[in-house]
Amino acid sequence: MSQKEPVSGFSRLSKKEKIALAGNLISNPEQFARELSRYWHHDPEVQSLIDELSENTVSNFILPFGLAPNFLINDTPYILPLVIEESSVVAAASRAAKLWFTRGGFRSEVISTVKPGHIYFKWRANPELLLDNEKEIESYLIENSSHITENMEKMGGGIRSITIRDMKPEMPTHYKLEAKFETADSMGANFINTCLECFSRLLPEFFREKGILIDEHDMDINMAILSNHTPECLVTCRVECTIQDLAGMGSGLDALGFAEKFRDAVDIARYDTYRAVTHNKGIYNGIDALVMATGNDYRAVEAAGHAFASSGGRYSALTVADLSGGLFQYELKVPMAIGTVGGLTTSHPLARLSMDLLGHPDARQLMQIAASAGLANNFAAIWSLITSGIQKGHMKMHLANILRAIGATQEEKDSALEYFRDKTVSYRAAQDYITALRTKEIPDD
Ligand code: MEV
Repeated sequence: MSQKEPVSGFSRLSKKEKIALAGNLISNPEQFARELSRYWHHDPEVQSLIDELSENTVSNFILPFGLAPNFLINDTPYILPLVIEESSVVAAASRAAKLWFTRGGFRSEVISTVKPGHIYFKWRANPELLLDNEKEIESYLIENSSHITENMEKMGGGIRSITIRDMKPEMPTHYKLEAKFETADSMGANFINTCLECFSRLLPEFFREKGILIDEHDMDINMAILSNHTPECLVTCRVECTIQDLAGMGSGLDALGFAEKFRDAVDIARYDTYRAVTHNKGIYNGIDALVMATGNDYRAVEAAGHAFASSGGRYSALTVADLSGGLFQYELKVPMAIGTVGGLTTSHPLARLSMDLLGHPDARQLMQIAASAGLANNFAAIWSLITSGIQKGHMKMHLANILRAIGATQEEKDSALEYFRDKTVSYRAAQDYITALRTKEIPDD
């Protein structure tokens, strides 16, 4: 079918009708429908929960939920739940966690948990009327939104400040109201946006009540929205040991040689953007997987991290290595706006299970755990990169995927896993090996 007109009312169709309609676009609609329904959850209650998380849900896209043991974080041992499709991430996290378990573990600290939100608006009246009333506007908005903030305040959160800034020189006559919030154990997106939308209704009222006459057209609100740039919602995570404790980390490298090569690798990522992006991607391999497993918003966390990585005016590594005083010290600092109550964290059954496994952390503890997952993955990546290289471990993990893709039987898989134990894995090599097995031309060891 070649579609000429937009489809109307798609969302009102039943799941089967949606699948049938989409099936018109592909060569084998029956198989399409069969495959999609194979992944429906057998428990209708779970399925309807998943259906309602999004719109037009027709099936479930399954990802692995893995466990990374041996994380010692601020003296507490954890097994981390990680949801990720990349095969070597859980192994990398576990490898680094085990190494640091016997070297003091991860020390993580929350620096601050303030989250901002903004109202962007045009102001055509006298700017003094706006800026000179900043303090009064702040009190007025806080007082008149208390019905929204009451509960949050009981939990230790609420509005922390409201300021008004002009957006000169780029956007003269444009202003932004910046509100800063604490959101206790919730990520707080709904709370912040509700407050901001309330403020945007209250702002014109403030001027009316004060008897400040502004023309209806003097103030034009563009939008009210939280910001995912959260440089004041920060967590650090550090590992530290004597340099001597790094003996045996790579063949041909003594402890100091390893430490220096590691420090240089981190410095490369501090000064070279090409490397920095990949370096930070490795950090987010761990953070995202933990954030996903706990039902938090990994897109928000990543966006904040990449903006923070650019805060010095150039995109740079989120970690720093230091070798002074005979110590190896390695630290990550990242923004991390996540929560442990509300949203998917409490509604998704596996996110709830993750929270259980982590001993029901509060938001600050979860920030520390996520940062540790990030530092562990990054440490493991650099460890591999400066010693054996990344492909050895990666392709070994990937071998299982390749074997599945080329339709190897269990017996063939076992045989290939054994054969490639000490060989370089590639798609082609795996395919050749399976073909040879089938034609009994098994390559020499
Ligand atoms: C792969 O997903 C992540 C790495 O590329 C990170 C890095 O290079 O530091 C291994």
